[in-house]
Amino acid sequence: MLLEVKGVNSGYGDVQVLNNVSIEVQQGEIVSIVGANGAGKTTLIRTIMGTLPTKAGEILFDGKRIDGAEPHLIARAGMAQVMEGRRLFGHMEVEDNLLVGGDILHDKQRQRENLEWIYSMFPRLKERRSQLARSFSGGEQQMLAIGRALMTSPKLLLLDEPSIGLAPIMVKDIFGKLPLIRDRGVTILLVEQDVHRSLSMSGRGYVLEHGEIVMSGTGQELLGDERLREAYLGI
Ligand SMILES: Nc1ncnc2c1ncn2[C@@H]1O[C@H](COP(=O)(O)OP(=O)(O)O)[C@@H](O)[C@H]1O
Ligand SMILES: [Mg+2]
Repeated sequence: MLLEVKGVNSGYGDVQVLNNVSIEVQQGEIVSIVGANGAGKTTLIRTIMGTLPTKAGEILFDGKRIDGAEPHLIARAGMAQVMEGRRLFGHMEVEDNLLVGGDILHDKQRQRENLEWIYSMFPRLKERRSQLARSFSGGEQQMLAIGRALMTSPKLLLLDEPSIGLAPIMVKDIFGKLPLIRDRGVTILLVEQDVHRSLSMSGRGYVLEHGEIVMSGTGQELLGDERLREAYLGI
């Protein structure tokens, strides 16, 4: 098992947001966690990445306990995140943004290979590699943020609502890359409000409601579930 979250509680100050959350992600899977706005999706990502402490439970990555570890050590162990809102270095050129991402590898050859791969997957980034990131559209920034995370050769990529604020055609384009990323050996954990699109492309998924996992199954099982269809797809 690549990631195991076992009975985790976490939150902000005295406010508990996540309650007894357990999820598992195996090497090579695309897994999504879907839930409405405010369900606790971003809180879960922050808790896994170590920027928010757990109040109970355990988190194992690649078989080792990581709850309580420093975020930079968790990143170095092979986890990369693309946060909601992205946080790029707007004053830096596109290529420098990518190279900064890859710096933690300390492996120039690997960095060059990753850069070529990212450019082949997102030709738009290659065309615009000498431009400042702040001149980018939302979709281009999302591609760049994903590219930068991939520069670290992560074992696990955590994506926080990559579809938010993007035009449907851009969302389709970006989601279409996820299987390619997975096929290169990067396991993906995706959190999304776009229930249909994310479950359609995930092997398995979980439904998070008010900080609790209320349902889990294969993407197809969940999409066929009557309660989920009523609650999230209006069917
Ligand atoms: N920094 C924060 N401080 C206090 N409460 C927060 C903070 N961030 C989020 N929350 C609360 O935690 C709950 C879950 O939020 P969040 O994890 O952002 O949900 P989601 O990403 O699913 O929309 C919400 O009730 C939200 O108001
Ligand atoms: Mg969120």
